[in-house]
Amino acid sequence: MKSMNAYREHFPIFKNTVYINSCSYAALSVEVEAAFLKYLKDRHEVGADWIEWCDRLERVRALFAELLNANTDEIAVTTSASASLSAISSSLNLTGKRKKIVTTDLAFPTEAHAWHALKKHGAEVVHVKETDGMIDLDDLEKIVDENTLLVAVPLVCYRNGALADIPAIRDVARKNGAMILVDAYQGVGAVPIDAKEWDVDFIVGGSLKYLLSTAGVGFLFVRNDLISKSQPTQTGWFAQEDIHAMLIHDNIPANNARRFEQGTPSVPNLYAVEAGLNLILEIGLKNIRRHVAELNERLKAGINDIGGKLMSPKDPEKHGAMITVASTDEYALVAALAERNIVVSCRDGNLRISAHFYNNDADIDAVITALKENKNLLA
Ligand SMILES: Cc1ncc(COP(=O)(O)O)c(C=O)c1O
Repeated sequence: MKSMNAYREHFPIFKNTVYINSCSYAALSVEVEAAFLKYLKDRHEVGADWIEWCDRLERVRALFAELLNANTDEIAVTTSASASLSAISSSLNLTGKRKKIVTTDLAFPTEAHAWHALKKHGAEVVHVKETDGMIDLDDLEKIVDENTLLVAVPLVCYRNGALADIPAIRDVARKNGAMILVDAYQGVGAVPIDAKEWDVDFIVGGSLKYLLSTAGVGFLFVRNDLISKSQPTQTGWFAQEDIHAMLIHDNIPANNARRFEQGTPSVPNLYAVEAGLNLILEIGLKNIRRHVAELNERLKAGINDIGGKLMSPKDPEKHGAMITVASTDEYALVAALAERNIVVSCRDGNLRISAHFYNNDADIDAVITALKENKNLLA
């Protein structure tokens, strides 16, 4: 493997900008740029290359499976995390006694919407409150019971970077016979994920953040033995057992996770996603996690030195790649840093600083210096 600094050279934005905003959108690599251009070239030269495009979809599916340590049959390639969540929500069976869906106050809105939309079918949606920015297992235990159908948690919270203890949460769900879903979007590409070891029912995410590519492609993992029992009503011809059958008098879903897909794949974006996933897998999740953890230790120490209020957990085992700092006016702080060519983002009163393998110590020091110069905007 090349050094992280050598990989940084693949991202032209660093010539002029301190880009430390992967929780929002990844920096663009030359590989992903070339993949987009290849799509356009193929359109000029081949026109409609459906055989290659379907092959590409299968290659992307296999790469997602490798990334998550899942079987290829357990992966649906969707168009967003929201599309994945909606397909799952449309497959849930609310006719039995289990009508409770447990989500958390750390949920990204789209995850909560997927469950609240089911209230018209009789679902009861209960939120576990956050305690110090985390989900307390005792609070979860009090809510999950024999009437719970599903427990849904974010791997990493989009507001404060808190990292969930998935095996512990899974155990609470399983003990009560409930299914468990992980919204991994703020973790995937920066935090190792092992679907086999986690042994959860569903994992959703998408490609535009730490997976380095673009909006327009999401994924969904469904545990193998759940697939044949699941009948998503949010469906379409790419979810059929035989996509080319063109049947209109029945709905015969694929016998793998593809049954959670819908229409024509997001073809141009698949080019980019394949390039992004290849780069992430080449570098390796453990290496990425280690590098980002080192940067974040430097960042947390710097925040402490200048008297900033850390809103993410201090313990490196309890946060993902994103570190958050409290601000009195987070939008003004984002703008003040942008004036210094530093790109970060904000949510809910917090500045979000989200490093990836392409960031370095100099980026962290630039952020700390800029925060020091804008102490009036720190809470
Ligand atoms: C944790 C999390 N889940 C879901 C989403 C939404 O993803 P999509 O727009 O692909 O539906 C986001 C987007 O920022 C997110 O951070």
